[in-house]
Amino acid sequence: MTATFPDLHLPPRLLAPDATPADLAVHQRRYGPLSHGDPETLLRTVAESGLTGRGGAGFPTYRKLVSVAEAGRRTGRAPVVVANGAEGEPASHKDKALLRLSPHLVLDGLQLAARTVGAGEAYLAVEDGVTWLESALAQRTADPLPVKVVRLPRSFLSGQAAALARYVSGGAALPTHQRPPVRERGVHRAPTLVQNVETLAHLALVARYGAGWYRTAGTPTQPGSALCTLHVPGREPRVVEAPYGLPLGRLVPLEGARAVLVGGYHGTWIPAPEAARLGLDGSCLGAGVLAVLPVDRCGLAETARVLRYLALQSAGRCGPCLNGLPRIATAFRTLAAPGPQGTVRADLARWSGLVEGRGACHHPDGTVRLVRSALTAFAAEADAHARGHCTATDHTPLLPVPEED
Ligand SMILES: Cc1cc2nc3c(=O)[nH]c(=O)nc-3n(C[C@H](O)[C@H](O)[C@H](O)COP(=O)(O)O)c2cc1C
Ligand code: SF4
Repeated sequence: MTATFPDLHLPPRLLAPDATPADLAVHQRRYGPLSHGDPETLLRTVAESGLTGRGGAGFPTYRKLVSVAEAGRRTGRAPVVVANGAEGEPASHKDKALLRLSPHLVLDGLQLAARTVGAGEAYLAVEDGVTWLESALAQRTADPLPVKVVRLPRSFLSGQAAALARYVSGGAALPTHQRPPVRERGVHRAPTLVQNVETLAHLALVARYGAGWYRTAGTPTQPGSALCTLHVPGREPRVVEAPYGLPLGRLVPLEGARAVLVGGYHGTWIPAPEAARLGLDGSCLGAGVLAVLPVDRCGLAETARVLRYLALQSAGRCGPCLNGLPRIATAFRTLAAPGPQGTVRADLARWSGLVEGRGACHHPDGTVRLVRSALTAFAAEADAHARGHCTATDHTPLLPVPEED
C-alpha cells in the first residue's frame, strides 16, 4: 500500500507530501503550534467549518461534541473520548496510513476533542501499530490528558461505536442493543465520544487554521477533503486525499470499467458511465473506499464473496444477522453462478426489506445497501447468468476478503 497526494487536487493537508512518517518535531514544523483555546470558540469554529465524521456515517462533528459535553454536564460524569482507528473494513487503508504518517495530527485532535467535551479519560483504539503509537505518545510530554492505546481484535465489527466502548470497558468487541446510546453511556458507563481518527486529524487543522481555511477545499455543501483508498486492478491500493466534489474519474480510471464500488463493503456499486458523471460525495463515501471493477470481471461474484464475509462477521445475536444475512449471502451465491435462478432475485429483495433497520447496529443496513446496489448495477449480468452464461472472462478474486478462520 502506498500513500500519495496527487498534486492536482489540493495542497497537502493530512498526509505528508513525501509520504514519510512525521515525528513530533517534523509535525510541529509542518503545522505550527496548536493553541488549545477555549472550548466554546473551538465549537463555534467546528460548526462553521461543517466538519463531518469520516468513520462512515458522515455525522456532523459539532453536534456530536455538543451532545457528549451536555451529557457530561447532565450526568455529572466526566466523558470519555475514544479515537477510532479500528478500520475494520478490509478494503480501507486510510486510517492506518494516517496513523503511520501523521500520528500527531490525530493525537492533537484527540486532545482538542477531550478538552471540548471535558473528558477525564482518552483512548486510541487500533488493530495494529501499538508500539509506534506509544512512542509517538511518549514524545508528547505537554499533553494535558494521558492517552491509553488499546489493541482491538481484527474484525469488521470492532470499530462499531458500541462494540468499541464495550471492548475499552473490558468486554467483548461486539455491538450491543445500545440504549441509551454511547454518547450518553459508553466506556465505564460514562458519556463517550467515539470519533474516527481522520475526523480528529481534520479537527486539529480546523483548530489551527479556522473554518474559512477548511472550506477552501470541497464544495459549499460538502466542504473539506477526505482520505480515500483507491483499488485499481493491476496496481497496489493507494491512499490519497481528495476534496469533496472532485470528479470520480480523476481519482480512478473509468474507461474499461464495468462499475465502481464506492464506500466499501457497506457501500454502493455504481455503473461506470454513471460514476463518470459523479463527484466525490461525502454522504456516500462510507469508509472512503473506491474500487474499480473492470469489464472482464463479474460484479455478482465479487459481491457474493463480500456478502459471505459480512454474514460471517456479524455477531449473530439479532434476528437480522442470525437468520437474514446468511440467507442473503447464500441466495446471492446462487445469483453469482450461471444457471437457473428461480425466485432468488425476489427473495433477495424481500429479505433485504426484512432485515433493514432491525439490527442492534447498522451492520444489516450496510449489507443490504450493497445487495440492492449490486442487483441494480449488475441486472444485465444477472440476466446473463439466468441464461446460463457469464460475461466475465477473468474470475480471479478482486476485492480483498480476509481468509476465514
Ligand atoms: C459494523 C460497523 C463497523 C464500523 N467500523 C468502524 C471503523 O472501523 N472505524 C470507524 O471509525 N468507524 C466505524 N464505524 C462507525 C462508528 O460506529 C462510529 O459511527 C464512528 O467511529 C464515529 O466517528 P465519526 O463521527 O468521526 O465518523 C462502524 C459502524 C458499523 C455499523
Ligand atoms: S445487527 Fe448484527 S452485527 Fe449488529 S449487533 Fe445485531 S447481530 Fe451484531
